[in-house]
Amino acid sequence: MIPLPLARIAEITSGALSGMADPRAVVRGPVVIDSRDVRPGSLFVAFKGARVDGHDYAAQAVRAGAVAVLASRAVDAPAVVVPDTAAALAALATAQSAALPGATVIGVTGSAGKTTTKDLLARLTARMGATIAPVGSFNNEIGHPLTVLRADHETRFMVLELSARNIGHIRALTRIAPPRIGVVLNVGTAHLGVFGGKEAIAKAKGELVEALPRDGVAVLNADDPLVREMAARTEARVTLFGRAPEAAIRAEDVTFDERGRGSYTLTTPSGSARVSLLLYGEPAVENSLAAAAAAYELGLPVATIAAELSEATPRSRWRMEVTDRPDGVTVINDAYNANPDSMRAAFAALGSLGRGRRRFAVIAALRELGEDSTQLNTDLGRLAGGAGLSGLVVAGPEADPVLAGASAAAAHPGDMSPTGDMSGTGEMPIVHVPDAEAAAAQVSRWLRPGDVVLVKGPRAMSLERTAELLLGGATQ
Ligand SMILES: Nc1ncnc2c1ncn2[C@@H]1O[C@H](COP(=O)(O)OP(=O)(O)OP(=O)(O)O)[C@@H](O)[C@H]1O
Ligand SMILES: [Mg+2]
Repeated sequence: MIPLPLARIAEITSGALSGMADPRAVVRGPVVIDSRDVRPGSLFVAFKGARVDGHDYAAQAVRAGAVAVLASRAVDAPAVVVPDTAAALAALATAQSAALPGATVIGVTGSAGKTTTKDLLARLTARMGATIAPVGSFNNEIGHPLTVLRADHETRFMVLELSARNIGHIRALTRIAPPRIGVVLNVGTAHLGVFGGKEAIAKAKGELVEALPRDGVAVLNADDPLVREMAARTEARVTLFGRAPEAAIRAEDVTFDERGRGSYTLTTPSGSARVSLLLYGEPAVENSLAAAAAAYELGLPVATIAAELSEATPRSRWRMEVTDRPDGVTVINDAYNANPDSMRAAFAALGSLGRGRRRFAVIAALRELGEDSTQLNTDLGRLAGGAGLSGLVVAGPEADPVLAGASAAAAHPGDMSPTGDMSGTGEMPIVHVPDAEAAAAQVSRWLRPGDVVLVKGPRAMSLERTAELLLGGATQ
């Protein structure tokens, strides 16, 4: 971050110094919200959560080297006291990004694939200059400003992930660090329940392109009609990516190897190059094209883009991590999160990776789907039941619709399986277990060398535990 004395921090946040805070003491960063992350020179931001109150850790943070605490009440340590720590954090980040006109801000949004695309794009921009990008999925009103506050005068690019849980959220994030380039991936079914419909989701995601300046670029998915329509909502130039012929940045001759890794010819107005991804699954093609389009707009040569994309491995964990055990069992760990679209993509990946092999899946009921929840979870069960599995484990609460859908589909596989794959006809065991650990125990009983198992569920189920236990018990 740009070093700031406490007096200046108080001014930016309309706060008051307390606890004998020295107005001249300089915060050099990092700005953190977890006292365990404090380093000498840090500013510790105290949030009051449902279970833990950060204010209780103020003294500990200062002992660990924090210069002061940004707090909403006086604490037993030097502090800048503000009415609302989230608003103060946003104000600090806004001031910081305004002081860094040399850094180009690129925002990435969409229902699925933001983190993957952000990681790929950060890899590409790093070829052109110092890049800041969030760790994992830091994409909300807290993670976003914390990421922006990592930038300094060296920073040339900030690749930021913007997520919306409601109308107005993305607009607020774009005010903190105004983007020059906005990438919109797709409008899908994540958080459908919160929004109440795809049109509302499109409205929220489109706030990113509305925030772009006239000399900015909206990078839009040509293959998603709701994203394409966003072209009308921006003053910026529009660049389309996708497989559609109208896309300026196009994937042509798309193929997948026997493990489900995509290859394509990246075609641009100034030449083309072959990309062979190390990332698994169909969505990786879309995500890598989006990253390519943004990097192309920033001036990175097509050959460099293609070479970098072809070397990229997953940077953020539990997203389509494919690991072969010594005994030849392949574990697909896609446990980071799940929604109806990403479940379909994951089962498609299981289908290609598992061709000619026994396939298993550990899944859990999807959440945050609103009034269609029962129907969409029954559909998920049908998807799993019709996927030609040799065994299905459904973990955790509210599993009944999933179990019902799976049983119905497994009993009539001919109706369900689009591939006509009848392995598992009527015989497919379907087991309900309470949690991630029990899921690992159950599927372990079935696995034999050469099998493939997909592990995927909503964040709250932490099914990465299942995958880690299957891979030898190491957990983090
Ligand atoms: N373009 C895509 N279309 C559909 N599904 C995708 C796409 N990209 C990734 N996925 C799936 O979505 C899941 C999450 O991927 P990723 O973490 O990149 O998305 P995200 O948008 O950052 O999610 P979150 O909103 O949870 O931060 C993964 O399971 C992945 O398989
Ligand atoms: Mg994410």
